[in-house]
Amino acid sequence: MGKKKVGVLTGGGDAPGLNAVIRAVVVKGEKLGYEIIGIKDGWRGLLEKSTEKITTETVEDIHREGGTILGTSRTNPYKEEGGEQKAIENIKQLGLDALIAIGGDDTLGVANKLSKKGVKVVGVPKTIDNDLSATDICFGFDTAINRVSEAIDSLHTTAKSHHRVLVVEVMGRHAGWITLEGGIAGGAHVILIPEEPFDLEEICKIINKRKENGKLYSIVAVAEGALPKGDSKFFTQAEGTDAFGHVKLGGIAKALEKEIEKRTGIETRSVVLGHLQRGGSPSAFDRYFATRLGLKAIDMVEKKEFGKMAALKKGELVSVPLEEAVGKMRTVDKELLDEAKVFFG
Ligand code: F6P
Repeated sequence: MGKKKVGVLTGGGDAPGLNAVIRAVVVKGEKLGYEIIGIKDGWRGLLEKSTEKITTETVEDIHREGGTILGTSRTNPYKEEGGEQKAIENIKQLGLDALIAIGGDDTLGVANKLSKKGVKVVGVPKTIDNDLSATDICFGFDTAINRVSEAIDSLHTTAKSHHRVLVVEVMGRHAGWITLEGGIAGGAHVILIPEEPFDLEEICKIINKRKENGKLYSIVAVAEGALPKGDSKFFTQAEGTDAFGHVKLGGIAKALEKEIEKRTGIETRSVVLGHLQRGGSPSAFDRYFATRLGLKAIDMVEKKEFGKMAALKKGELVSVPLEEAVGKMRTVDKELLDEAKVFFG
């Protein structure tokens, strides 16, 4: 009998730390006697049976690199004709004894559905948005908030020199974690997140007050999914949605730039951090944390803990049902935002 095969895939938006998970799965997986099969470009690779064997040699030092050596996509098998059946059939044809799916709500949602059909799957939580509810933190988030705080540091010097308002647009569709934590770390004067609709007049008041106090510049950090009070339509870049039903967000910073300048009379500029928050090398925290999640995931395969996700709870690595992981989004509590407001202005 040959070695048992474990498939690994990365789905959804990439996040710094994906390669560290893959490396850990391979290094420990080989020691436990498994052959690791990389599935390319997320669920698309499974539907197309696009795979490659990955070994300890292939993954040497990849934990230092951003992105994912396997590639990723937002393909949703449940949006393809006969997609579920094809995925299940291909797992059999590829001879996979188990599957490790590394992803956020969308990827793990598919993993959960497949698990209910008997697929032996283990999940690993990934999202820079940090909005998965069954884990205290997702890898990729630490790198993202470091990028945001570094960017805001830079914006301070130019905004201050020109006596301008700078509006910085940060990723985060429904959860404002990156904006809140990156914004506080970088010293933003106003932080706007999807969890609490904002009042433009209030923002302008804060900026004007700063000016009265001799502070001639301001930094506004806004999540791409934030909404003005009374409005329920996101700022979007394009029509339509992706295979998981998400609109393509973007444009809120530009809209605020115009309104703030009009209402305060202070010259205003905007900046969109976009994919700079996701690209590049992971922080040391993300490298280490993602490594531990990878080790946990292969341990879960060994212990046959299928239909579950590796997670961090109160400082400990545990396994939680996938169902719990995908059921509810973790958003910023009102208390946490209120706590941050002491720094507004
Ligand atoms: O899911 C993470 C995320 O980075 C969101 O914050 C953002 O809205 C989205 O991905 C952007 O996705 P894409 O790269 O497909 O435009």
